[in-house]
Parts: sequence; C-alpha cells; structure tokens
Amino acid sequence: MSSPSRVLVDPSMVIGDIDPRVYGSFVEHMGRCVYDGIFDPEHPTADEAGFRQDVAELVRELGPTILRYPGGNFVSGYHWEDGVGPREARPRRRDLAWRSIETNQVGTNEFLGYARSVGAEAMMAVNLGTRGIDAATALLEYTTLRDGSYWADLRREHGVAEPYDVPVWCLGNEMDGPWQLGHKTAYEYGRLAAETAVAMRRVNPAIELVACGTSKPIMPTFATWEAQVLEQCYQHVDYLSMHMYVDPERTPDLRSLLASGIDIDAYIDAVIASVDYARAAGKHSKAMPLAFDEWNVWYNSRPREIGVWPVAPELIGDIYSLADALVVGSFINSILRRSDRVRIACLAQLVNVIAPIRTERGGGPAWRQSTFYPFAYASRYGRGDSLHVGLTTGRHSTESHDDVADLDVAAVREPSGAVTFFVVNRDLERTIPLELDVRGFSSLGPGATLTHAVLSGPSAEATNAVDQPRIGIEESVTSWDGQPVGIPPLSWSMVRLQPNT
Ligand code: AHR
Repeated sequence: MSSPSRVLVDPSMVIGDIDPRVYGSFVEHMGRCVYDGIFDPEHPTADEAGFRQDVAELVRELGPTILRYPGGNFVSGYHWEDGVGPREARPRRRDLAWRSIETNQVGTNEFLGYARSVGAEAMMAVNLGTRGIDAATALLEYTTLRDGSYWADLRREHGVAEPYDVPVWCLGNEMDGPWQLGHKTAYEYGRLAAETAVAMRRVNPAIELVACGTSKPIMPTFATWEAQVLEQCYQHVDYLSMHMYVDPERTPDLRSLLASGIDIDAYIDAVIASVDYARAAGKHSKAMPLAFDEWNVWYNSRPREIGVWPVAPELIGDIYSLADALVVGSFINSILRRSDRVRIACLAQLVNVIAPIRTERGGGPAWRQSTFYPFAYASRYGRGDSLHVGLTTGRHSTESHDDVADLDVAAVREPSGAVTFFVVNRDLERTIPLELDVRGFSSLGPGATLTHAVLSGPSAEATNAVDQPRIGIEESVTSWDGQPVGIPPLSWSMVRLQPNT
C-alpha cells in the first residue's frame, strides 16, 4: 500500500444534475451492428421481428438510455423511405459510406420498436449529406405525427397506428469531415442546419435538435467550425455535437493511454469555449448544451479490409483490453465532471462495431467486452447530481503528459442519498488507499453500507472472448468502518456509500 489519496465531497458542491441521456449509445447501419448484431432472424433467440433476445437482454443490462440511429457516416447517403413498408419490396442499395450492401430489412419502424423494447429513447439523424429539408421533414412527419397527412398516413398503412415519441434529432453527421458524403463548409452547413431546423419545427415544434460540431479534436477547422456554424444556426438548435475517439495505437505507451482523461477533459473544455464564443458573439442568452454523441476507444489506425460490396462485413470489430475499459471509465468521468454542459452522450457503438457487446456468427452467443462494465455500472448508479471532487492524490508524468493525477475520480449523489465514486487507478503497481471524506453528508458515517465493485483482469492487455471472460467485476458489500478503501492498481472501481435506513 502507498500513502493514501483522499476525496472530499459536500452536498453544497454540485456541478449539475446528470441528464440520464448521457448514458446513450449508438446503432449505425455499419458492419455487424444491425445485421448479425441486434438483428438476426435466423438466430435461435430471435423474436418475431427478427431481433436477438440474448443481445437485447445484454443491452438492457448495459442500460443505454437513448440510442442514436441510423448513423454515423451511413446517414449521409441514406434514403429512409427504402426502409419502411413491406420488407420483401425493400431495395438492396449500395451504402457509399461503408462500401457495403444495405438490405433495408431493418428500417425506421423496426428500430424504433427495438429501442422501445430495450427501454431506450430514440435519437434519429437526418441525411443532410446527399439529401436535405424535404427528406428530413417527411421522416419527422412519418415518425411523430398521428394522421391526416401523407407521410403520417403512410406509417399507419405500414401497420403502425400510433406515432412514436422521438425527442431528439441530429441535423446530419460529421459534416465537417471530407470523408462525409455531401461534406460542407461551415457556412454551407450552418445555413442548411438553420433552414432544416425551421422546417422541422413547423412539422413538430416539440423536438430538440442537434447541430454537428467538429468530428475529432485534430480537425484543422475545429473551433472556427463551431463559431461559423453557430453564427448561422445558434437560435434554431438545442445542442451542438462533439465526437472523440481514443486510439491506443496512437498513444506512445500504456501510461499515456491511461492518462487519456486529461485530453478528454481538455477537449470538452475547448468545445465549451468555442460555443461560448458563439454565444457571446451572437448575443444569445441561453448557453448551448453539448451532445457528445460519439465517444469511445477505437483502434482506428489499423488497416481495414471491407471486401467487395458485402452485406454486414466484420468492420472495426475492435476487441477491448482492460486498459481500454479504464479509458472508457475516464470518458464517463470526464462527461460527469461537465454534467452542467454535456447533456447527451453516446457510447459508439452498441453491438459488434467498436462495441461493448459482441455476437458470434452462425447462431453463437453474445458476450460482454471489458468496456461493458464501467458503462453498465455508471448507467445504473451514476444518476442524480454530479459533485465537485476535492481530490488529493499523487502525481506522475508520462510520455505524453507532464502532470497526471494517479486517480481519476468522479462523484455522484444519487436521489436515494447514496454517494458514489467512479475511480480509475492509473498506477500500474500500487494499491492506493482512498479516504472518503463525506462528513458533509449527515447520513453517511461509519456503518453506512459500502459497495466496492472492481473491474480487473490478469494484465493491461488481457481481453475477453466468447468463452473466456477474463475481465470482470468483483463486488463486495460491507459495513463501512470509516477507513480508506484500497483501490487496486490498473483498475476501474465503483465505491458507493449508502445510508442505513
Ligand atoms: O462510429 C463509427 C464512425 O465514426 C461513424 O460512422 C462516424 O460518424 C464516425 O466518424
């Protein structure tokens, strides 16, 4: 054991309430996320609609609150009309984003039914790449209006009498990226986003709209993109999106990878600064919340073999290590630390494609990756208010960072009165005793129920496989004696104190 670290929290030091939508995920028509992922009519567990129930069970356990759909880069070439109506009449199309064949056997109605069945809200994206206002308003009418006009009546003809509640809509995807179909300049996109927002609100004034921010921190247009897009559309939208992936093979070493939370914090702060500039320059009174609607670890520098226009190819099916799961824990902590501004966040993606859940082809089972656990625990216990953390801990430096805290900590006060800490121990060797200073919470003294859930595995590089769950959670529940809690090296932990009633 080394010298203790200490966390101090107080009920009066609240960062903000945590919007449950920060525990979102993402279903893209890409690789094996939809086909051979959530949907496989041949699988022994498939329901009548063709959705795998073993996967659906794991999705419920993971606990995403909102699911973004149908892309991603896919949406920028998508004709949503191809995916509704009788399945046998739906066209097979070339998906130009991922050079795959889209069979359209899953479309809007199937997805929205699925989201409901797993207990998640839906967050739909419209195609502002190859299409525009007309297709967006038609889709909004089709999904959310009851009847009495063409698209709403068409949905009813398709067997769905009641409209869906789709609260959040994304105005395109990563429109700053040259890889995006219909890529635009900030001015072009900002104008289109504003005009599409106005038209969509005429169809359904209750919706919330997300404009595209920058697609990754290294984009040369970052910050000017935000300023110029928001100059055109600030008053018409409710959120600005941000995306970020950490590539372990682009970090110099393990210790630098484990310090990724520093870069995530810095990027969130930089995006906030850029939208606050737009707010000040445009004399807007409301602050702009962020939708961090794609985030994860992604081995993006690895070569990709897609093949020749395949259906549901294995595409970016990264297998995650223990170290990757710690980075996922740090992403969640960074998001919680800015819960005042980050109001939506989506772990990209849900199944098979850079995902916490994997499926085996040919009728095989579904299983949990290492990254499943920090998300599932945070979604379950990380609800309520995010608290400022007074953290006293050791510091170290890595190849890419000069001053890194040994522990990465976020704290939550749950409505039940429990106080929960999510902790990443970045130290590779030392168990760090963590003092919990909760004296401001009168119901949380020694004798409170202490739950300590630790994610660990045999090594930083260890991964899970279908029949080898090497990385998992060990949970202990005890009566807290007021003493420090030992946080094992190279681990993600949940430390939760519950008042005794
Ligand atoms: O999630 C994979 C891809 O990453 C998405 O399609 C795109 O939006 C992002 O670049």
